[in-house]
Amino acid sequence: MRVDRFLSNLPRYNRQQVRLLLVEKRVRIDGKVVTDPHSAVLEFSRVEVDDLLLQAGKPARYFMLHKPPGCVSATRDPQHPTVLDLLDEPHKDDLHIAGRLDFNTTGLMLITNDGAWSRRLTQPQTKLPKVYYVETEQDIGADYARTFAAGLYFAFEDLTTQPAQLQVLGPRTARLSIVEGRYHQVKRMFGHFNNKVLRLHRESMGPLHLDNALKPGEYRALRTEEIHLF
Ligand code: URA
Repeated sequence: MRVDRFLSNLPRYNRQQVRLLLVEKRVRIDGKVVTDPHSAVLEFSRVEVDDLLLQAGKPARYFMLHKPPGCVSATRDPQHPTVLDLLDEPHKDDLHIAGRLDFNTTGLMLITNDGAWSRRLTQPQTKLPKVYYVETEQDIGADYARTFAAGLYFAFEDLTTQPAQLQVLGPRTARLSIVEGRYHQVKRMFGHFNNKVLRLHRESMGPLHLDNALKPGEYRALRTEEIHLF
């Protein structure tokens, strides 16, 4: 929310007073004086006017998890363990997943309480490349890379997938980079060739790679510079 709106929503200030507070450099967000009425106030921001604390701001939290197979990318599930069950953190109800993975898919998963950050990562316009290591049941044909690069028609959504890059590593192993996150996308792309995906592992999301010190099921907080990659 804009800081002028945030302040004038409070019963103690009217719009005229808010304008003055800003001009008189009496408003601070996260310790910095702001004069621009458009400055953003997030749920994480500390907002002060003179010595008065108006909002303490809650800590933004960001985690990288090595998702193991056999757990659900959801915050709750009646039957199976969820990725949130793997986190030993307080206030887990606040957390959500930035980019889900299927039940048996493994690899990089990002979990946060910062909705603006996760939206930036996952919204289609961002076109963030997600790189998957893939193992298949049948040999990967020479024509796959061209087909994936051209885009595949998905009848259910009535759309053609964005160009994807396939790097064949072995007869039945490859690395695939996609910029979307359609439902079962990688499996459906290989499914076009009737080739079943036996193993799927997300290695990276944009510039962020799964920390190889993390074993399946382990997680760590993101470092400041990693948070700022997005
Ligand atoms: N594509 C899939 O088919 N499954 C995943 O978990 C991720 C991408």
